[in-house]
Amino acid sequence: MDSAAVASAPPAANSAFNTETVLWVKHWTDRLFSFAITRPASFRFRSGEFVMIGLPGLDGAKPVLRAYSIASPHFAEELEFLSIKVEDGPLTSRLQHIKPGDQVLMGKKPTGTLVLDALKPGKRLFLISTGTGLAPFLSVARDPDAFERFGQVIVTHTVRDVKELAYRDLFTAEIHDDPLVGDQAKVQLVYYPTVTREAFERAGRITTRIESGDLFRDLGLEAGKFHPDEDRIMLCGSMAMIKDVAALLEAHGLVEGSNAEPGDFVLERAFVG
Ligand code: A2P
Repeated sequence: MDSAAVASAPPAANSAFNTETVLWVKHWTDRLFSFAITRPASFRFRSGEFVMIGLPGLDGAKPVLRAYSIASPHFAEELEFLSIKVEDGPLTSRLQHIKPGDQVLMGKKPTGTLVLDALKPGKRLFLISTGTGLAPFLSVARDPDAFERFGQVIVTHTVRDVKELAYRDLFTAEIHDDPLVGDQAKVQLVYYPTVTREAFERAGRITTRIESGDLFRDLGLEAGKFHPDEDRIMLCGSMAMIKDVAALLEAHGLVEGSNAEPGDFVLERAFVG
């Protein structure tokens, strides 16, 4: 290749990725961390969508990217993410060491089904998550649109240990002072954490609490189950949880929706590798 050919090689700006700067990193546990990056002026997304996030390959190898739900609402100035740490994970083994000022790659095209537009109107919105599956619901539950469309927004988060209840302070206190959704959150938002592997005020898997009716009893809902006329649900987390809850929802007569055809519930697997 001569120098003219090198000079005419496409600049990085034409690639499928933007290069963004890490603004902050918060480590919750040795399995879980959050980080935020700069938002390119041209980047638009809907609350609940995901985007590819990654790092350049080592020693000239291809970049390593994975899908990450954006935890910020669509109007936020910075883009926040919640990630697991996998010791030998191709991306997270390195991503967990990022520091403010470092650069990460971000895809240019956000997408996803955990968006309010994929649901029919309803009375209540259940945002049901396990582990890092909470991420898209941090976006949806900080979006005033959720409170305008639904009378009640219930965020459930199931984790193994109490220390994995990331964002517990946000949902129990900080969100009430949010200038945009604070007043609505005080009245309309219910945070419903459950813990499966140590003692906690609400023990057990969310599936168990749905099947036993405890979830509905705790919320003061007499029906004791999901109702197709009133309840809308988003699911995000482990594949097993999504499969189990989707089966329960279908048994209650609820129908899965999509961007093309809004329905009663939508689902997305959380990022795992
Ligand atoms: P459990 O401790 O009973 O396995 P992980 O950390 O592995 O991603 O799991 C996050 C949470 O999801 C755990 O509390 C786990 O409960 C729960 N979980 C796993 N599988 C299911 C399922 N099929 N239905 C409901 N919750 C589940």
